[in-house]
Amino acid sequence: MYKLLLMVMSIIILPNISSAQNNFLVKPYLQVGYNANSTSLELLWHTTDTNNNWEVQYVQNNKSAKLAPLTLNKVNVKNTTPFIVYHAILNDLQPGVIINYSVLFNGKKVFESQAKAPKIFNEPYSFIAIGDIGAEKQDQKKLALIANNLNPDFVAVPGDIVYDNGLVSEYANKFWPIYNADIADSNGAPLMRSIPFIAAVGNHDVDNSDLDKYPDALAYYYFWAQPLNGPEIKEFASAYPTFKANDNNKNAFLNAAGKAYPKMNYFSYNYGNAHWLVIDADNYVDWTNKELLDWVKQDLQNASSATWRFVMFHQPGFNSSREHFEQQQMRLLAPIFESGNVDVVFTGHVHNYQRSYPLTFIPDKKGTLLIGGKDNKTLRGRVVNGKWTLDKNFDGNFNKKPKGVIYVVTGAGGADLYNPEQTIDTDSWQKFTNKFFATAHSLSYIQINGNSFKLQQITTQGKVVDSFEIEK
Ligand SMILES: [Fe+2]
Repeated sequence: MYKLLLMVMSIIILPNISSAQNNFLVKPYLQVGYNANSTSLELLWHTTDTNNNWEVQYVQNNKSAKLAPLTLNKVNVKNTTPFIVYHAILNDLQPGVIINYSVLFNGKKVFESQAKAPKIFNEPYSFIAIGDIGAEKQDQKKLALIANNLNPDFVAVPGDIVYDNGLVSEYANKFWPIYNADIADSNGAPLMRSIPFIAAVGNHDVDNSDLDKYPDALAYYYFWAQPLNGPEIKEFASAYPTFKANDNNKNAFLNAAGKAYPKMNYFSYNYGNAHWLVIDADNYVDWTNKELLDWVKQDLQNASSATWRFVMFHQPGFNSSREHFEQQQMRLLAPIFESGNVDVVFTGHVHNYQRSYPLTFIPDKKGTLLIGGKDNKTLRGRVVNGKWTLDKNFDGNFNKKPKGVIYVVTGAGGADLYNPEQTIDTDSWQKFTNKFFATAHSLSYIQINGNSFKLQQITTQGKVVDSFEIEK
């Protein structure tokens, strides 16, 4: 009798989700996937459990339930417990319809959530753009909650995903608990389990690649699943990051990264009526390389049927901050962006918010002028001089037809702010800068409705500090 009572009690007490959820190192989160398309999403999770008894079920409109095939990546690098990254592809999704999905372990449900399927052409949607995020700061967490309340369809991160060295161990404290939290509160929000994040690599993600010193660096290649449709540059011809490592650390990294390294530094994909080009702007990249420039040119040409064309990378070419001012290498691409009809370029690296006038730019020369640091050994930047034409008639309110590309710096996502004093010192702004805001952390909230684009820059206090619209 006593045993029976105990059994009944345990049935009542046992939660719906079994305790096997402790198997997760990182709970399930969404990505656009290595082969992104408008009817699929990729679900990833991390576990130390080597038992391959995982399944995923998903339902849309109470109709279609499917069992997804799983693939896995083993990560066995020094400084971390060996773990597995599982990938499940949610296929044949009905556009714009909520997905209810569950992850099962040994036949028991251990995780469930809702997700948003990608939207179709001309269906209204929204996204957040926010860079320089994984710093484990209170403002970073506040912005995660604000992003969650805005209910976007995806989040775009223009680099510096995690500080200081893009390590597996740094993601554990500074990224997952904030963007893939179980509940929405002042410590973070359950964003990644319901919408995909896309990211460009920043210097803190890939440019510190001494694997003997940091064997768990370059975690970007383990944790993200983004399209592998980048350029085929032979022997990394200064387009891709290299790394230093002894044979053990090198093999451990290559085995864990699989096909993601080094290809995942450049990619493009389509969401709704927009084309996205995501590229690497780090110091090792030679943007005088013709092969690389031709790839960018071709990618934008191929996207001529999209209503909107967005480019995302880390280091901004057009930046008024004293910080990183000399890192102008991306100005070399301005003519390609203009001929490719790019609407907006999203960048980070500089920890504040800036918006340029719509502009066109002709570099004086095809190369860059190297500027050394005070010690004459380190490189401070690559200067690109030239002539720009500014469209000062565009105000994003009455006149919504820009003549030229608008460059946005949205690097105020969490890391310490740069040059707040310049916010009111308009004399310190370069001529191409229209807005400069650096006295609070902030995110960019973008709403697209067919031919209309609206960006609002929102602070941790919920204040809108800039807003502009583009109409096609
Ligand atoms: Fe950076």
